[in-house]
Amino acid sequence: MEEAFKINQKSSKLRNDSAVQGTNDSSVLSKISAAQLGYCKDDYLAHFASKKARRSPLVNRGYYIRAKLIDYVIKEFLHQVSEGHSQIINLGAGFDSTFFRLKDLSLLANTFFIEIDFPDVINRKINLIKNNPILNEFCSDLETVKEINGNKVYQSLKSNLLLIGIDLRNSELLEAILKSIPQFNENLPTFLLSEVVMTYMSVKSCNGLIKWISETFTNCVLTVYEQINPFDPFGEVMCSHFNKLGSPLRCILKYPFEDDQKKRYKNEGFSDVFSIKASEFYQYCTSDKEKKRIDDIELFDEYEPWHLKCSHYILLSATKGNFCSEFIRNLYTNSKPKIDTNKHLNLIKFDSSHINYKPYPIKFGSRFGHSLCSLGSKLFIYGGFGELATDPFCKHLRLASVEEFNLEQMNLNVLELPVNSLGDRIFQDCTTTGENSMVVTLGRSNPSKMFESIVRVNYLENNIQTESINIKIPRFRHAVCSIPNSGLFIYGGKYYDETTNTSRILNDAYVLDESNNLKKVFVDENIITARHSMCINLWNNFLIVSGGLDENENPLSDLILISIETYEYRKISLNKVGGANFEQNPPGICFVDLKKFVAYEFDVPNENRLMLVCHQSHLIDKNNLLIVGGGAVCFTFGTHLNKQPSILDISKCWSEISQN
Ligand SMILES: C[S@@+](CC[C@H](N)C(=O)[O-])C[C@H]1O[C@@H](n2cnc3c(N)ncnc32)[C@H](O)[C@@H]1O
Repeated sequence: MEEAFKINQKSSKLRNDSAVQGTNDSSVLSKISAAQLGYCKDDYLAHFASKKARRSPLVNRGYYIRAKLIDYVIKEFLHQVSEGHSQIINLGAGFDSTFFRLKDLSLLANTFFIEIDFPDVINRKINLIKNNPILNEFCSDLETVKEINGNKVYQSLKSNLLLIGIDLRNSELLEAILKSIPQFNENLPTFLLSEVVMTYMSVKSCNGLIKWISETFTNCVLTVYEQINPFDPFGEVMCSHFNKLGSPLRCILKYPFEDDQKKRYKNEGFSDVFSIKASEFYQYCTSDKEKKRIDDIELFDEYEPWHLKCSHYILLSATKGNFCSEFIRNLYTNSKPKIDTNKHLNLIKFDSSHINYKPYPIKFGSRFGHSLCSLGSKLFIYGGFGELATDPFCKHLRLASVEEFNLEQMNLNVLELPVNSLGDRIFQDCTTTGENSMVVTLGRSNPSKMFESIVRVNYLENNIQTESINIKIPRFRHAVCSIPNSGLFIYGGKYYDETTNTSRILNDAYVLDESNNLKKVFVDENIITARHSMCINLWNNFLIVSGGLDENENPLSDLILISIETYEYRKISLNKVGGANFEQNPPGICFVDLKKFVAYEFDVPNENRLMLVCHQSHLIDKNNLLIVGGGAVCFTFGTHLNKQPSILDISKCWSEISQN
């Protein structure tokens, strides 16, 4: 019995190890995809795979930011040690090509480069190198210099390269092998890299390895790139994806957040620990020119999942010894922003205890990128991507249907509209235009296929009429607001130019009257910058534009007041409101008192698997905010849809506001 248990345990360990090794095959293909499209420069990776795969733009961006972050630290290390001897140890190197890239740039003249991975992975890598003339040219003298219990060690003296096939959990044997190599010196400045590697090891083995590093090297920096933040819906989808692959993220639940990780490395003996989220790096350390270059590589319209993805990965460097600690401290300190978010408007922040979450008893609107408007007690939900409440197979697709939900009777009805009258639009906007009428505007189907029409919908019980009008201002992620007695105000958004294959963020505004005459309205570009994915609401005689992303993908933190009489513009700066930004805690609900110029932001409870991006909301009454839909395609990990509407009870927020 005990024997059978041991055999089972052993075979499950082998299965797990081979699934973990499989992560290398998938990441090398993704890295090649990003390099071939020009996201990053790498002339050597393609030699490590016999096939090519073109990954989605979101995946390419994910590998782009990963390569940028690692380059950022490794190149700084090489710059700092350029005068003297040093070592780089790539832990779980897989088929990574960093050695070849850096050698090609003549950056490794005095550096001993060591790669470590499971024996099978290293043996495969050696075969690929030896059979490829370009790779072999770098290290033609590569030969087996040692073999202990199947753990082979290969060395090229000519190029200062060592490859060790060993399980990293066996640090005793690793130490013995390293100490037997004459070129190895634990007192040299040493850069150790774990690029999505240690997270696949158990907490115990991983901490053992971290401790071994901190005790062995006197002057080192251990740089780790891996996942954090497992508890929100994106994090859950991410973890479940790795579980399904058989290579679970085994440390993430014990060290879920950036601060937990930092404490961990200190506990295991490092003197200083620094970290930055991929999202912060993209926002603050990537120039506008570089962002534009990235945006022009391929059609991209997945901003919300991109920001979410980046807030789930960190780069962390743990250091020992004055030399490494000092330059790493400078590097990380310079990469953090020094911004004063409270500059113009008094912002008061509150935790999530003021908002109560209640699931809505009826399921409808499992979609994102849709629009919502209300006629009396009825809500109309149209378009976007998701699944129909009536579809037993829960198929994910762009939705051309309109759901009508009666808030009083609590019943759901899918409207029978004339065939193809609206199309399968996503990132369109709709608004109510009268007691029985609404209008659906613009939007897109796929990111290169924009709609240039609006559809007016007249709704009398059992008689729905639609009229489509081509207004010839194609765009998506724009915003629309109905101005009584004037017509529709249409502003901003994103435009894809088929002739140049590039996209533009728009800053133009129009008023469309009831007879469908379109008039361009002056936009004061000194006050309002081009943007998309914002909201517009009417307040007294002002249109209020809030939030959105600018052309460099920065979440905008201003409120623009536009007079509906004169179209004069006024800007108020405040912190981010709603949607996705680059923070670990997504923005909460922000109340802005436009008379007192005070903003109150309340965090939304995180426990309810509610993803507050690409959703719609409707204030049922003063205390109850209904959230309909929302979600995102989470990188390659899967799709999260808020399955059912929810109510956020905001009564306590009002009490808090009245006391301030
Ligand atoms: C996601 S891949 C990353 C490969 C490489 N670092 C990169 O970024 O391209 C993870 C790598 O870690 C290696 N790995 C994971 N656990 C390991 C262990 N206990 N010993 C040796 N290698 C390990 C796997 O074999 C695989 O090559």
